[in-house]
Amino acid sequence: MNFDFTDDHKMIQQSAREFAREVIAPSAVERDINAEFPTEIVKQLGELGFMGMMVSPDYGGAGLDMISYVLAMIEISRVDASVGVIMSVNNSLVCYGLEKYGTDYIKEKFLTPLAKGQKLGAFCLSEPEAGSDATNQRTTADKKDAHYLLNGIKNWITNGINADYYLVMATTDKEKGHKGISTLLVEKGTEGFGHGKKEDKLGIRSSDTCSLTFENCKIPFENLVWEEGKGFNFAMNTLNGGRIGIAAQAIGIAEASFDAALKYSKERKAFGNPISKLQAIQFKLSDMAVKVDCAKMLTFKAAALKDAGKPYFKEAAMAKLYSSKIAVECALDAIQVHGGYGYVREYLVERYLRDAKITEIYEGTSEIQKLVITRALLEGK
Ligand code: CAA
Repeated sequence: MNFDFTDDHKMIQQSAREFAREVIAPSAVERDINAEFPTEIVKQLGELGFMGMMVSPDYGGAGLDMISYVLAMIEISRVDASVGVIMSVNNSLVCYGLEKYGTDYIKEKFLTPLAKGQKLGAFCLSEPEAGSDATNQRTTADKKDAHYLLNGIKNWITNGINADYYLVMATTDKEKGHKGISTLLVEKGTEGFGHGKKEDKLGIRSSDTCSLTFENCKIPFENLVWEEGKGFNFAMNTLNGGRIGIAAQAIGIAEASFDAALKYSKERKAFGNPISKLQAIQFKLSDMAVKVDCAKMLTFKAAALKDAGKPYFKEAAMAKLYSSKIAVECALDAIQVHGGYGYVREYLVERYLRDAKITEIYEGTSEIQKLVITRALLEGK
């Protein structure tokens, strides 16, 4: 077993770290307070190849592996998890899904600008009555003349306001249950397509989340991403990879929490010494460090399996389940180490807690990850 990263991996990590610290960090607090979308940062991420990291250069991507993507996601989310989720959705849910399953037409027309970061994508599965119960899709796409007629509502859509292209799961054949769901690519500006207000969220406030409405939207047949009836498989398969991205995002938050607690414990004095000399603080620091390392092992294992073309969905769920749990725990510990200072904005750790919580909810709650893991175990996978 080799635990060393290649020189290329180290270079990607370093360039993501520098960009995160020099370009993303200075405005992170303001964007969190004002819930402001990082438009310029996303544009620059695209120019640097971070919005289509694993897409082939034939389609404008950086042609990198999943390990590189995890390394970059950790560094970006360590500074601002809102930017992390925007990048994650575009890379692992939208670009990955289009490259793996899209028709030639879809790839040629839509993937290249997405991979270059010139356009932004959104993944639209959740509905008012289809969150964890994702097979319960109510959005319909009926064939009429030369189009699908798309009707329905989607909820909790990351990049919902700022995206250009939306991958929408919709029922094309009601009789067939989840085997009658298809994925359609909807362009911004399509008549009948609208969005709700930007959700006022607890955390990841600078990313935008909203509901979407489709009223008799005419979607050309060629915007069918894969085959009719393959939409649920499309969603599940892309979410498997997405869960590795969210695990990496959670690790970034956990690592930021640890960094802050370590630094503060060396600076803050109590009882005549830095508080890092107190065993109560030392126990917290060591617990946090062990948890971050365990989360990395699980996440890099899942990424390495995916890179090797081996089954990885159980490992991806394990990585996401554990990393999101410890992100919340590390953020809470970091606040405790800071005492009262941890409870105010100035010291950043309160944002880490607010940002960490969503990683236990989106791209499948922790309960869904447990279900995916146990089903795989029962099937001997
Ligand atoms: N990987 C691949 N395929 C999977 C899968 C997985 N992890 N889980 C289920 N499937 C497949 C099954 O093999 C089956 O396929 P076939 O019909 O071809 O055999 C099909 O999906 C249906 O599976 P089940 O019968 O097991 O369906 P279920 O209803 O009992 O359970 C579920 C499915 C696992 C609970 C699924 O609904 C699920 O994952 N729900 C969570 C949805 C989710 O993660 N939503 C997140 C929204 S996206 C988001 O958050 C993005 C963002 O903006 C940040």
